[in-house]
Amino acid sequence: MESMGGLKRSHSCNDLAVDNVGEVVTLMGWVLRRRDHGGVIFIDLRDRWGITQVVFNPEIHADVHTKAHQLRSEWVIAVQGRVERRPPAMENSNLKTGAIEVLVDTLRVLNSSLTPPFPLDEEVEVSENLRLKYRYIDLRRPSMAANLIMRHRASQSVRAYLDQKNFLEIETPVLTRSTPEGARDYLVPSRVNPGKFYALPQSPQLFKQLLMVSGLDRYYQIVRCFRDEDLRADRQPEFTQIDMELSFIEEEDIYEIIEGMMLKIFKDVLNIELSVPFSRMNYDEALARFGTDRPDTRFGLELVDLTETVRDCSFNVFQTVVKKGGLVKSINARGCGDFSRKDLDDLTGYVGLFGAKGLAWVKVKSGGEWQSPITKFFEDVEREAISEKLGAEENDVLFFVADTGAIVHQALSELRLELGRRLGLINRGSYNFVWVVDFPLLEYDHDEKRHMAVHHPFTAPKEEDIELLEKDPGRVRSKAYDLVLNGIEIGGGSIRIHQKEQQDVIFAALGIAREEAEDKFGFLLQALELGAPPHGGIAFGLDRLLMIMAGRETIRDVIAFPKTQKATCLLTEAPASVARKQLTELYLRPDWE
Ligand code: AMO
Ligand code: AMP
Repeated sequence: MESMGGLKRSHSCNDLAVDNVGEVVTLMGWVLRRRDHGGVIFIDLRDRWGITQVVFNPEIHADVHTKAHQLRSEWVIAVQGRVERRPPAMENSNLKTGAIEVLVDTLRVLNSSLTPPFPLDEEVEVSENLRLKYRYIDLRRPSMAANLIMRHRASQSVRAYLDQKNFLEIETPVLTRSTPEGARDYLVPSRVNPGKFYALPQSPQLFKQLLMVSGLDRYYQIVRCFRDEDLRADRQPEFTQIDMELSFIEEEDIYEIIEGMMLKIFKDVLNIELSVPFSRMNYDEALARFGTDRPDTRFGLELVDLTETVRDCSFNVFQTVVKKGGLVKSINARGCGDFSRKDLDDLTGYVGLFGAKGLAWVKVKSGGEWQSPITKFFEDVEREAISEKLGAEENDVLFFVADTGAIVHQALSELRLELGRRLGLINRGSYNFVWVVDFPLLEYDHDEKRHMAVHHPFTAPKEEDIELLEKDPGRVRSKAYDLVLNGIEIGGGSIRIHQKEQQDVIFAALGIAREEAEDKFGFLLQALELGAPPHGGIAFGLDRLLMIMAGRETIRDVIAFPKTQKATCLLTEAPASVARKQLTELYLRPDWE
């Protein structure tokens, strides 16, 4: 192996073009591919920036050519040589450097490499587990490196924007107490305080509110948060928030600042001009039309409520559900008349995953005739009323789910997305932002037998709804808002309670006893009595935002070293066992042995 010894890189592997022909240059990087053509060796040399073809010609530099014979994939080399124009037939218009090549006169082998665990060609499908085990190799692939570069650009763009808007970047503790985001905590035992534990923050929520009490006025942080919850494609146990809090503001101020921020990120990173203001939808409407508070508004297939229309029909399933106060809702899958029996059975199975006990369907034939196992349960007028509400036409398929509101909405919102995907209705190039507003403040938890905060217990109620708190708490709306992009919740926040008396009222409504509140959040409650200004904020999932911007299906692809669905790191093999001595020092006695 050799050293760089005096050689200095003059260009990256993406720099050289026809203008450089005749120059002597020095490049360093990895051997991507080696081809031998009639004695001449061609190597695609790769670095973070791109690829340059370097050439070893036995007739010009015989020694160097002999040495080049040993080069293999992923060896690390330095080359020096003259830039030459490629013969026209050899030009590669897919490469920025495709019109030139470098005729090498000096080669240094800086390191060899074992055969990589998988080829780095983008076309080769590699299992994700193998990619995660050798993540550093995976990140050599240009598309993965591009994701990290995009992530860097997005963070820079956010920082520049928020700095210009007078936000201060302030760090908050990682070893702290439990924060109220509702997931399970990651705990860290304290060695110097036997039997005591820190919790890793689920968000900097309480600290950022305290910073407002400090008078710092505008805070932000690009910050790691930790949540021990069931993982999915868009959830990691540690993830990154763009976290913000502002004083003396109302909802409208937040919307304006965030729209400006999104405008800038999309312009800086993707060169896309978004149009603002973003649309807004209240929670009830989102649920009614899309069955979810995360509406993907890139396509139609909206839900239609038929509860009243079918109230008196003779289909037992519908009747029973309506009598019990449930819902019957429907989707018109336009032009899907050619769905086979198997398609319909598959979709029935699919909604079953979300709790639906069945999926009734109707194929609309010519003249509006129904073909369906349930036709016989409906009078002509009922069929006409349903068809009219759904705007049914020949060759449509109508799907119905009857159940509790929660199940109907979940099943049909998932069916809607599945149909959208199957029918190719989702325009991948569009970015549909929606502010979802007017969330309920509280929701009843049947297991806990009490109301829980929908956002978190520091969210302020709408003034006009405060009087409902005692008699009808479920109907109180909050000053919370989510930003949804293409059906994914990318951010959420709220205007906070800044007066102690109001916080006490909310804790009471949540069934949180005074002592419990004091124990968990006493420091915040005290701060509310020491001059807390009106304030509010929001936090974005940076990983989710980037997943969408990079057109990926999982946030793992935009995180350098992500964890698996089982919260493990295949590269470092974390979490790992520790020595008994370490446990003893932490006053922990294992019962797993
Ligand atoms: P919330 O809990 O809604 O709000 O989180 C804000 C945003 O963080 C992202 N997010 C996640 N991303 C990846 N993996 C996860 N496990 C995960 N959990 C959440 C989502 C979400 O919209 N303190 C409040 C914000 C506030 O009120 O200001 C909070 O954390 O994109
Ligand atoms: P059954 O009478 O159980 O054979 O059901 C007749 C049709 O109604 C089948 O297509 C079922 O999938 C559908 N079905 C059953 N239960 C429900 C329900 N809760 N909501 C919607 N459709 C249902």
